[in-house]
Amino acid sequence: MKGVVLAGGLGTRLRPLTRVTNKHLLPVYDKPMIFYPIQTLADAGITDIMLVTGGNNAGDFLRLIGNGEDFGLRHMNYAYQKNEGGIADALKLARYFVGDDKVAVILGDNFIQGSIRCAVGDFGKQPCGAKIFLKEVPNPREFGVAVLDGDKVTRIIEKPADPPTNLAVVGIYFYDSDVFEICETLKPSNRGELEITDVNNEYIRRGVMTYERIEGWWADCGS
Ligand code: DAU
Repeated sequence: MKGVVLAGGLGTRLRPLTRVTNKHLLPVYDKPMIFYPIQTLADAGITDIMLVTGGNNAGDFLRLIGNGEDFGLRHMNYAYQKNEGGIADALKLARYFVGDDKVAVILGDNFIQGSIRCAVGDFGKQPCGAKIFLKEVPNPREFGVAVLDGDKVTRIIEKPADPPTNLAVVGIYFYDSDVFEICETLKPSNRGELEITDVNNEYIRRGVMTYERIEGWWADCGS
């Protein structure tokens, strides 16, 4: 399974901190933000990773992460997102890197306390489709929100004004290689982005989406 870390975008919600640098280079405790999601993948045994970033500070990631040896990676690959076209737009750049493999995608501003190692094993046995991770939150309006029917996710609503549940969709997604064909069919949302929620809803429509609840804390450092 390949890994993709998404670290593009403008980080507007963190201005003025992000006026002169990329959000994911900002410190969180004693490390740059981007170290945490890379470590989450590495700890799960995913050692072939692509980092997608953009903007004026893209070169700083190379200086900071290099070939990924500090994380024990086999190889670190890089792609450059020219515009801030959304999470699914950034993911499209990993198409030839992932090939026919499965892929674990993690947002560069997402942190989890626990491990995804078992989930990676489970998804390896899942014949096809996708897997998402859910967490109960007090502020669901700020996230993609999942609606469940028994052990099935029936719908995800992106940042709903009136959330039907408090189950936020965490910024870690597992996909089969169909994800790239799905990304090609997307239309920009009201905020002008290709939404990862539209990708996930397509997997739900196809009946091949599974989910797990995240144990321990989860943080999104986007705001
Ligand atoms: O954190 C989880 C949430 O992340 C989910 O619950 C939402 O469904 C999902 O849409 C996303 O919402 P955000 O509004 O928090 O996404 P944001 O625009 O902050 O982007 C998250 C990361 O994705 C960011 O750290 C870098 C990457 N990104 C984002 C954009 C817009 C890119 O690489 N390129 C982009 O163009």
